[in-house]
Amino acid sequence: MQIVKSVAEMQSICRKLRTQDALLGFVPTMGALHKGHLSLVERATAECQTVVASIFVNPLQFAPGEDFAKYPRTFEQDSRQLEAEGVAILFAPDATEMYPEGAVTTITVPGIGDRLDGASRPGHFTGVATVVAKLFHIVTPHRAYFGQKDAAQLAVLQQMIQDLNFDLELVSCAIVRDTDGLALSSRNQYLSGPEREQALGLHRALTRIEQSIANGERRSSTLLQIGRNILDAATGVRVDYLAIVDAKSLLPVASVETGTLIAVAAYVGRTRLIDNFLPT
Ligand code: PAJ
Repeated sequence: MQIVKSVAEMQSICRKLRTQDALLGFVPTMGALHKGHLSLVERATAECQTVVASIFVNPLQFAPGEDFAKYPRTFEQDSRQLEAEGVAILFAPDATEMYPEGAVTTITVPGIGDRLDGASRPGHFTGVATVVAKLFHIVTPHRAYFGQKDAAQLAVLQQMIQDLNFDLELVSCAIVRDTDGLALSSRNQYLSGPEREQALGLHRALTRIEQSIANGERRSSTLLQIGRNILDAATGVRVDYLAIVDAKSLLPVASVETGTLIAVAAYVGRTRLIDNFLPT
């Protein structure tokens, strides 16, 4: 696996790859890789002839006071895992390479980018859209793989791809969970033993809502109340949002239909966790 740190070098390599008659797959990450990330890589290597991954902890998507400085950085281990998965090229620029002095242009997705996590973390999705647009320009993939875990991020990026005519397909991959149901996240490392238990409250609330839907309840107000009751009773869980929305627009819907997203964000101690599901 080739490790590339310079934008110019990456562009010249990818320019050649994109012209070849073979699919170029791309998996962008912030590192601290777990089985969720690796499931994206596995899908990409199964579907594409060449797979590029990136590791870049993007300062632009963290607000002051968030966890940018303490975000886990495990580069050696990450690169070994990516190599074992068959990734051909790992792009790992530093912040000055991605945002050289004088860089001022950003990409904002108004509306969608201000909903769910965008409402709780103002500016977050501008940071995400800007770095992902830059990565798309540098790597020029045919397919880019993202996790359903970050459902609002998917909606924002899908809108950006459409609006800015990126010539690629966004592939959304299922959420990978621990055996007890907790969605894997690099931020789970922040949780103490008791917090790790408390964090299961998010999954419990979603599972309970899912059961109610299976039993025929489709009204959002009732389902939200059911989920709220579980979250309110969960020790150590402070809800940021519990929402039933259209998965594309992220706008609230009155009842659960095809294309509805049920999403939760909550703090467990100082750690902000998210989870969601798409009812069938
Ligand atoms: P990061 O949090 O490192 O996640 C990288 C990719 O892995 C995202 O597409 C995310 O949805 C996916 N992922 C994380 N946990 C997952 C899980 N449990 N199951 C399935 N997929 C999972 O998301 C980002 O980085 C950044 O915002 C990025 C897109 C790289 C831009 O900086």
